[in-house]
Amino acid sequence: MAEELIINTSTDKREKYESLLPQIEGLISYEDDLIANLSNIAAALKFGMNFFWVGFYIVKNDELVLGPFQGPIACTRIRMGKGVCGTAWEKNETVLVPNVDEFPGHIACSSDSKSEIVLTASKNGEVQLILDVDSDQLNDFDEVDKEWLEKLMVLIEGKL
Ligand code: SME
Repeated sequence: MAEELIINTSTDKREKYESLLPQIEGLISYEDDLIANLSNIAAALKFGMNFFWVGFYIVKNDELVLGPFQGPIACTRIRMGKGVCGTAWEKNETVLVPNVDEFPGHIACSSDSKSEIVLTASKNGEVQLILDVDSDQLNDFDEVDKEWLEKLMVLIEGKL
């Protein structure tokens, strides 16, 4: 098993994702425990992409419940339709927020969070979990993040 993550120090985030994704794919290929895999993915994204906060919320009954993450402590439960995470869950689609202060109902787990991207992973058409990435900079996420993080969600869906 790969014990060490190779960090690409390029300033081009596409190059960073290009080197990180295959490593994550390798990392989760030999393990079927979801929490173990999500934990390593959160760590790989935190250190590989230098994200401010990155983590998962898992659908449990009628709520999103905080799962493996890296970064400051966060809200533990989010209802459907609430905040960015609850909106992505309800719509079952990626939500990209350039300025969290302009997103109605944004849930401020940390006042340092300025922009955010949330993606979903589904099984049989039902959202099972979401990935939330927060930045302490405005406008930090774009179509490159959306493209590559959606590829990551497909890998995760393969393990659900
Ligand atoms: N800001 C999110 C809540 C989760 S934290 O940012 C980790 C939201 O509005 O759903």
